[in-house]
Amino acid sequence: MTHTSTGQFGVYIHIPFCRHRCDYCAFATWTDRDHLIGDYLDALRDDISRAALDPVTSVFVGGGTPTRVPAEELAAVLTTIPLAPGAEVTVECNPDDVTVELMQTYASAGVNRVSIGVQSMVPSVLASLGRTHVPANVVRAVEAVRAAGLPTFNLDIIYGGAGETLDDWRSTLEGVLALSPPHVSAYALTIEAGTPLAEDPSRHPDDDDLADKYELADDLLTAAGLTNYEVSNWALPGHECRHNILYWRQGNYRGFGSAAHSHHDGHRWWNVRTPERYIAAVTAGESTEAAGETLDEDTRRIEGLQLALRMRDGVPSSALDVDDLDGLVDSDGQRVRLTRRGRLLANEVSLRLR
Ligand SMILES: C[S@@+](CC[C@H](N)C(=O)[O-])C[C@H]1O[C@@H](n2cnc3c(N)ncnc32)[C@H](O)[C@@H]1O
Ligand code: SF4
Repeated sequence: MTHTSTGQFGVYIHIPFCRHRCDYCAFATWTDRDHLIGDYLDALRDDISRAALDPVTSVFVGGGTPTRVPAEELAAVLTTIPLAPGAEVTVECNPDDVTVELMQTYASAGVNRVSIGVQSMVPSVLASLGRTHVPANVVRAVEAVRAAGLPTFNLDIIYGGAGETLDDWRSTLEGVLALSPPHVSAYALTIEAGTPLAEDPSRHPDDDDLADKYELADDLLTAAGLTNYEVSNWALPGHECRHNILYWRQGNYRGFGSAAHSHHDGHRWWNVRTPERYIAAVTAGESTEAAGETLDEDTRRIEGLQLALRMRDGVPSSALDVDDLDGLVDSDGQRVRLTRRGRLLANEVSLRLR
């Protein structure tokens, strides 16, 4: 496994344990398998050590709920990864779990960024999303991140939950901005097949409401000095997430743990989905891979353009047929970029890539 031409190489680690299953979430995570946590973390350590990785430029520990597993043991997993100088190391955190001690343990293991799943700052919206925390926990979590001296962090928020008014969404944005975050990811609630939310159309968001909420988010986040650098992501200069940028630039990365995905120069593969099968494979010294695919040149090129179009730098002018896209794209003759209205319709504009 080697670096991409950009010199970047990432590692993703999946932690498939949650206290509670949110009914909109389709990620590979379980609420009834905490008894596997010890064996799972041992398997991660063995698997990563055996991979004999080159130094990595970014690490992202996601889930599931990474903060659900003992911090010292997660730290022991992280210390098996060789880091390049200045590597970005992010851990996803649930607000309920964040304490100064937890953040200090992470920082000692090289973690320099956390991403906190805030989702909303309005109690009724949190309840309708099925979340267990209250807004005060978010404030306390951010104070703990700062007290431990972590240099940067992200707050994840979701718009479009059932019963959320535009004013509720404004309160969430204002509540989040009151915490002066260096990075915010704002996602439209997506209906994932197989989730309880998918079964209940009365709670599905309305496209016009989502568009209004996206525009309000962009207005308020931009006014606070955060720049939109990908359709759903805003950051202060220098606080963009390098790991996600690596994904969006089709860089190489290696995923460890159940259901984790990897990519190397157009070949991608994914691991067995359950923690039991992952532990069994590592223990037996067998491959953890479930399946894989190699993209043909054209598919890879178009996927690269679709990802690039969602980012601030856009795509080369030659790659997009701009006829009838008035108001959706801006072109300087060299590059074409989505306007704000275009960002709302990024998937439709993508159909014109060539
Ligand atoms: C998989 S979660 C892991 C982080 C952590 N467990 C949490 O929920 O806070 C990562 C992020 O994905 C987003 N997410 C998950 N399911 C989503 C959905 N159906 N629609 C929009 N965003 C979603 C949430 O914002 C969440 O913070
Ligand atoms: S949204 Fe986060 S906490 Fe909720 S089930 Fe998914 S991974 Fe777990």
